[in-house]
Amino acid sequence: MRRAWQIGMIALARSQTIKRFMQSNRSTTELAKRYVGGANAIEAIDRAAVLADQGIKSSFFYLGEYVDTRELVEENLSALQRLIGMLGKVTIEGHISVDPTQVGCSIDWSLGASAYRPMAAALQSAVKGRSGQHCIMIDMEDDSVVERSIALHDNLFDEGYPVALTLQAYLRRTADDLASVIARGGRVRLVKGAFVANSDIAFVGERAIKANYYRLVDRMLSNEARKNGFYPIFGTHDHEIHAYVIEKATELGWPKGSYEFEMLYGARDDVATELAQKGEAIRLYLPFGTDWWPYAIRRIGENPKNLMLLTRSMI
Ligand code: FDA
Repeated sequence: MRRAWQIGMIALARSQTIKRFMQSNRSTTELAKRYVGGANAIEAIDRAAVLADQGIKSSFFYLGEYVDTRELVEENLSALQRLIGMLGKVTIEGHISVDPTQVGCSIDWSLGASAYRPMAAALQSAVKGRSGQHCIMIDMEDDSVVERSIALHDNLFDEGYPVALTLQAYLRRTADDLASVIARGGRVRLVKGAFVANSDIAFVGERAIKANYYRLVDRMLSNEARKNGFYPIFGTHDHEIHAYVIEKATELGWPKGSYEFEMLYGARDDVATELAQKGEAIRLYLPFGTDWWPYAIRRIGENPKNLMLLTRSMI
């Protein structure tokens, strides 16, 4: 049932007709506002500043998805460079999340991969001398690009650029991939994974994926990880995992702020605020831009409880 719901939502996300209607319809702004931090970088930074006042950090994401032309790649890169330039002028500590396909990897992998270096270099120089976890976070897409995305991260990291990597608990290979970033003393955002794959390469079913997530938490909070200066980021809304991480981190002597939780803006803001008030480091994945429909509808797909929100905005 949940799977059928998700497939339906993905079809809605990909329909150009529905997208045009929704994005040009003023009555749908409730939906956009729920999940999107602003129509442009200035509005997103303003929103991040409000969140920062509540002790919550941001991971900016420019809404330019399903990119299939070089013109769209250029548009996305310009928007990201503008954001980086602005981050240099404010005191906000920001991650910038970037999908490989968003910057051209689906057209030509080397074209997209080559876009990350100038972005990371620009961010490095924009925030020079400032403390914090500023970085380009490489989002992870389906299993066909995992190997190349990891190589991209490793090369940039080894060259000294501020990059971090998203790894997915649903993939069997993740334990080994994580070990390699822990050995480097890098940063990993661990998510369950928004994709499915066969059982030869993946854990199948919510229970098996969650069990692997717990095993990976143990590694991310191991003594070796701490000794190497590894920075763990737990990208999940799952409160049972939050509780497990906090208990484990306390037991093993990880001070608050030496690891963080990341959630999607608009998904569980109540949980984010509560954790921030308890002194936990929290970051919200903060999308911005005008092409918001595919992103918002996928968020609804992740939680059928949001059906009312969708219905209200469509009627
Ligand atoms: P899970 O689905 O297990 O649900 C736990 C609880 O949270 C439930 O109560 C559920 O209802 C609630 N919840 C979950 N999603 C919600 C939503 N959208 N709105 C309201 N409530 C919700 N995936 C990927 O493959 N590559 C990537 O790069 C990323 N990046 C990424 C960044 C960040 C910051 C997050 C939080 C997630 C991702 N993901 C991702 C998505 C991730 O893989 C996963 O699909 C979702 O986070 C859902 O899994 P959870 O563990 O969060 O919640």
